[in-house]
Amino acid sequence: MSTEAVVAEPVQAGNGWEPNILAFCCNWCSYAGADLAGVSRFQYPSTVKILRVMCSSRVEPAFILKALKDGADGVLIAGCHIGDCHYIDGNKNAEVRINNTKKALAKIGLDKRLRLEWVSASEGLRFSEVIRDFTEEIKKLGQNPVKKPLINADERRLSTSVCPSAANVQGSEVK
Ligand code: FES
Repeated sequence: MSTEAVVAEPVQAGNGWEPNILAFCCNWCSYAGADLAGVSRFQYPSTVKILRVMCSSRVEPAFILKALKDGADGVLIAGCHIGDCHYIDGNKNAEVRINNTKKALAKIGLDKRLRLEWVSASEGLRFSEVIRDFTEEIKKLGQNPVKKPLINADERRLSTSVCPSAANVQGSEVK
């Protein structure tokens, strides 16, 4: 799974910096909640890019670390409420995993950039509120200090078309 294409471009609004937030949303609840937010025209910042996963438990710590390395200022994992997971205990497992990842991130001061939320398919309003709140929190924290410098799209295309392995040299992957 690649997070790089999703989070690499910075978001600019007006003359200020806006954070890049990557949201992993489970297919059965939170993704539908995000969809409902859109259909219902509940406003939320364009700072969020959504990646659909089948369950919150699909999100491995490596995905989170890669997203932070590749340019995300914050990472949200959104799943079904406890008791509603379509894979029985997936969200409970995700909770344990995310808490452990947060503890590890705390050692390098990045734990506040990771958030786990439960959003059901009928909670479009709640989805928009979660995104607004997380965006404000990330704005207070400022830019992610560990993300690698961005290269523009032309440089990326050139480096991978001339020499596919060049992307690896720069620390990214050839897809
Ligand atoms: S299916 Fe939604 S969290 Fe497991």
